[in-house]
Amino acid sequence: MFRRDIGEGADLRLLETHHAEAFLEFVAANRAYLGPWLEWAHTITTLDDAQAFIERGIARYAQDGLPWVSIWQDNQMVGGMLFFPLDRPPRATEIGYWLSESASGHGLMSRAVRTMLSLAFDDLNLNRVALQTEVDNARACALAERLGFAFEGVRRQSWVNQGRLVDMAGYAILADDWRRREAYRQGR
Ligand SMILES: CC(C)(COP(=O)(O)OP(=O)(O)OC[C@H]1O[C@@H](n2cnc3c(N)ncnc32)[C@H](O)[C@@H]1OP(=O)(O)O)[C@@H](O)C(=O)NCCC(=O)NCCS
Repeated sequence: MFRRDIGEGADLRLLETHHAEAFLEFVAANRAYLGPWLEWAHTITTLDDAQAFIERGIARYAQDGLPWVSIWQDNQMVGGMLFFPLDRPPRATEIGYWLSESASGHGLMSRAVRTMLSLAFDDLNLNRVALQTEVDNARACALAERLGFAFEGVRRQSWVNQGRLVDMAGYAILADDWRRREAYRQGR
């Protein structure tokens, strides 16, 4: 079972069906904060919707070993992360992530994403993790840059958000980038 302590009373737990109620409550409480950027924050409104989302994650995890996780702070669900399907020959994937408004601004997501990058590169031997965000999502862009993702350009009108075509900023980090940064961070 995937579970990781990420320090300061926070941990990552595989999203499982018994989390559906907590996940639904989390989405309902944070709809206004997540809604501008995450389509599913509008569409998950019932327990069945929450279950279906979690089940999609469990099916993906079984396929490629990349877990969809919830983030807990002091035993309260405060966010989550997911992976897009693994692209096998290039050993590449893409990560998505969300926090509650009150959990944002404290470095929690930086620790959480770093933990998932370690899983992807160190444990699963992937070579590339991408991250895409709307160009206007300043916090998500700042997160990518803080973690050493390289900016690879803007894919104009490549995504639809609530019926609007939006421009997406593309970022990615490679296994070599990750190892260099970690060696530097750990003073090796
Ligand atoms: C995108 C999102 C996850 C970013 O969260 P975040 O809180 O900015 O990221 P972190 O948890 O890494 O925190 C970084 C912030 O904490 C501060 N911080 C405090 N202590 C810190 C530490 N030890 N390490 C890093 N940052 C720290 C940073 O200065 C930064 O704050 P600032 O942006 O005001 O300068 C969050 O805003 C969110 O969920 N938004 C809504 C959903 C969304 O947009 N998802 C992405 C869709 S692509």
